[in-house]
Amino acid sequence: MKNNKLLTLAIETSCDETSVAVTADGREVLSNVISSQIDVHKVFGGVVPEIASRHHLENINAVFNRAMGEASVKPSEIDMIGVTKGPGLVGALLVGIATAKAFSFAWGVPLLGIHHIQGHICANYIAHKDLEPPFTALVISGGHTSIVDVTGYNECMVLGKTRDDAAGEAYDKVARVLGLPYPGGPAIDEAAKSGDPFAVKFKRVFLEKDSFDFSFSGTKTGVINYLNTERQSGRGINAADVAASFQQAIMEVVVSKAAGAAKLLKRGKLVLAGGVAANSLLRKMLKEECGRMGIKLYCPPSVLCTDNAAMIGCAAYYRYMAGERDDLALDAFAGLEL
Ligand code: KG4
Ligand code: ZN
Repeated sequence: MKNNKLLTLAIETSCDETSVAVTADGREVLSNVISSQIDVHKVFGGVVPEIASRHHLENINAVFNRAMGEASVKPSEIDMIGVTKGPGLVGALLVGIATAKAFSFAWGVPLLGIHHIQGHICANYIAHKDLEPPFTALVISGGHTSIVDVTGYNECMVLGKTRDDAAGEAYDKVARVLGLPYPGGPAIDEAAKSGDPFAVKFKRVFLEKDSFDFSFSGTKTGVINYLNTERQSGRGINAADVAASFQQAIMEVVVSKAAGAAKLLKRGKLVLAGGVAANSLLRKMLKEECGRMGIKLYCPPSVLCTDNAAMIGCAAYYRYMAGERDDLALDAFAGLEL
């Protein structure tokens, strides 16, 4: 406790960012240290799970020390520990969970295991101090693409989700075949800026009428087939046009479904969450669509869209306030439904 506020030490190690944060009363960030492993995995074109676990182990103590130092808090002032319990890479998750358990045991404070996607949604409570449930959320990341009806700080219902690739996964794979660096999302976003979004007509997959599910693998395969055909026939490829056309096809579907869900649910608010929420085309298109429909759009800054521990600290605070607790038997879950 500090200045009458409950302090959370939060840990996030589900993929390739080692992150430790200190939050006050959930929504205030005292520190949010993110150590990215992107450079380590770049040479492999994607995250190598074993390497990710090893780097989390090597980094976690230094990241913890920096987070406590930047927040200027003492261990005796920490009221609870929040840690991502899944979904994610199991070995990577276990490093965070083992660290969280050690602090919980040593300091005698409650432990709270957090669903990673719940954390992504909570990033919005940090970014927008006035935001309260209920609202509709579009969760769009490297591992997930879902439309969620958020009815309370700890309650939500999934309306639809991807049946194959997550949007970020499709971005990363298309970037790889285009020869763009990992992670592919920001690289495609950047390349697309100088491209024509209507140069190549890639498939828009809407699935059944009224369905809020997604399917991105057909569009992804369409891009790969197009590139193979063009390369085999010796024609040059305009990477900017392909990047722009690919993301136009993906985002037309995403925006139509997310705005459609927000309209149907009548919450009046649409909240963006997850790494792909940093995408400039998505933000622009949704801003226009929500403006037309009279829906208020909430987008966190990019640093709170991609993986970070502050969002986990915020989610832990709301679970704590609801009286929920985990014990030292807390496990990691590679696949975990929302
Ligand atoms: O939320 P996140 O950091 O990790 C997961 O939980 O998956 O999301 C990472 C994903 C990656 O696929 C990355 O390529 C994508 O987010 N991403 C983007 C952008 N920035 C990150 N995708 C499109 N446009 C961006 N600007
Ligand atoms: Zn994430």
